[in-house]
Amino acid sequence: MGQGFGQNYEAGEGVNASDNLLIHEVDESRRHVFKCTAAAVAMLVGSHALGATTQSGKPLGFTSVPVSSSDALHVPPEYEAQVLYRWGDAVGALEGSPAFKTDGSNTWEEQALQAGMHHDGMAFFPIDGNPRHGLMAINHEYTDDGLLHSDGMQNWSADKVRKSQMAHGVSVIEIIERQGQWRVMPQSRYARRITGQTPMAVSGPAKGHSLLKTAADPSGTRVLGTLNNCAAGQTPWGSYLTCEENWNGYFSSQEKTNADEQRYGLRHKGWGYRWHEFDERFDAAKHPNEPHRFGWVVEIDPMDPTQTPIKRTALGRIKHEGATTTLSRDGRAVVYMGDDERFEYIYKFVSRDKVKPGGYAANKDLLDHGTLYVARFDARGYGRWIALVHGENGLTADKGFADQAEVLIKTRQAADVAGATKMDRPEWMAVHPQTGEVFVTLTNNSLRGQPGRDIDEANPRPENIMGHIIRWREGGTGNGDAAAMEFRWMHFALAGDPNAVKPEHRGNIKGDMYGSPDGLAFDANGLLWIQTDISTSVMNQGAYKSIGNNMMLCADPATGETKRFLTGPSGCEITGSAFTPDQRYMFINIQHPGETASERSDPAQPLAVSNWPGGPGGGRPRSATVVIRRKDGGIVGT
Ligand code: FEO
Ligand code: CA
Ligand code: CA
Repeated sequence: MGQGFGQNYEAGEGVNASDNLLIHEVDESRRHVFKCTAAAVAMLVGSHALGATTQSGKPLGFTSVPVSSSDALHVPPEYEAQVLYRWGDAVGALEGSPAFKTDGSNTWEEQALQAGMHHDGMAFFPIDGNPRHGLMAINHEYTDDGLLHSDGMQNWSADKVRKSQMAHGVSVIEIIERQGQWRVMPQSRYARRITGQTPMAVSGPAKGHSLLKTAADPSGTRVLGTLNNCAAGQTPWGSYLTCEENWNGYFSSQEKTNADEQRYGLRHKGWGYRWHEFDERFDAAKHPNEPHRFGWVVEIDPMDPTQTPIKRTALGRIKHEGATTTLSRDGRAVVYMGDDERFEYIYKFVSRDKVKPGGYAANKDLLDHGTLYVARFDARGYGRWIALVHGENGLTADKGFADQAEVLIKTRQAADVAGATKMDRPEWMAVHPQTGEVFVTLTNNSLRGQPGRDIDEANPRPENIMGHIIRWREGGTGNGDAAAMEFRWMHFALAGDPNAVKPEHRGNIKGDMYGSPDGLAFDANGLLWIQTDISTSVMNQGAYKSIGNNMMLCADPATGETKRFLTGPSGCEITGSAFTPDQRYMFINIQHPGETASERSDPAQPLAVSNWPGGPGGGRPRSATVVIRRKDGGIVGT
């Protein structure tokens, strides 16, 4: 998302106020270098190499798409795009398939059987190995209540709150391809909506902890709903991981917040969703433990529509951007996760046990046992992982952590104590399918470089409105074992416009320009796909004027060559990506077309910014999953 009703975010809410170092293992004389010019930054960025990579190195085989500020989706001339699944389309459940009403007048009961709003991360799960028939799990991150209801947020009511909650969560849809066209199967036995009210189980070390107990759930083991589902993960054992990001925005705290609430950005009246007015559990002044029940990674078995989604507390409680899963050399699960806020941290979880054959059923407890680590980026390209384990690294009772459950419920505070490195808003992570190299987007941080918030080697630009991408290889020698305790890192790219007025906004992209990288994924051939999330409050303005609408690019990690693959309609962000196993079809999401700078539309003018995808007669802009293929049926990106 554009980070939450933008102006509030820019006002500085939720900025990590811990006194953690911004630079590690750097003496004062060297530290001075980092305060110098862009030239010094460029020197640092090129100052350490990871050694040879093994990617393709072949030229990217499509015609680059120019920047655009038009209200249309543009793909290369060799490609074609098909809109598949829009907000309000029937999910295809056995319970019914209500039609979308273009004036926003569907009831909350109907919304519960339709696609939610603001599609984000997703993953494709083939059925019986068929690359052209499978399930797609899709996150619905947040709502624009100006578009969701006919009269927007006027006449606010319990029914409107319920409809907003039903438009959050996850869709599982069954999709099939025939003659190049994909469709959503009606009356699917798999199709389901998971919403802000769906019963969920809690598992792992914090299950049943006193801080998770509420009046409605004295056991601390059952939660209603998942919220602000941003990026996602797909596990080798066939499950879907959906990640709770800006969940704090739904809660209204007391006017005077305590330190723990401040650390997670809670505040009185939240971010204006107004759920607490009709659903008391979102009033944290009355139910102070309810917020502890959000901020987790939730595991879903897409193949079992009766499965209760599970909040996996061993993976920590942060503003989870995503959960990118790979395997260690000895077969354990390793999950990479970003905490998307300015000056927050990068984490990984390493399971205790090895992944077993037998799919989800054989691995349903795997994510309950293991170790959570937080990243420390040291100077000269070194880095290491610090364990967030009770009794280690300062995580003791006298620091406020009575047990491991409290370390996990207060993951941010634990990472502060352990000495993690503050980053410029960690978003998605991607693991190279052949080399195991890890990439992360740092989307932006306008406050970097202000007094007490120095630049450092990993976050090298002041006023970092353009963002950057870091890559690393696990192991002190870069041997690539995902479970290693050390890593070697370098920058892949500093984003920006080469013609920007300020040097720190220009970047060093080798190819087509972009800003605010967010979504990130590798395809099976090792090409890196980058999606952007320039906030609608700055899009096509100021330093961003020449960069245009949000976009998706393809990069070759071997050469750095970067080409723009698509541009989105007005007011949208490009999110989510999935591929069929044969790489002939790519799925992406167009999130929040038509979004206004305030991130809430005027219901009297729903088409003010965009009429994508329905055109002038479509009633309102709609987030949608889009399928993209080469016209000649070839492999996407090559
Ligand atoms: Fe939901 Fe950090 O993007
Ligand atoms: Ca973002
Ligand atoms: Ca994101």
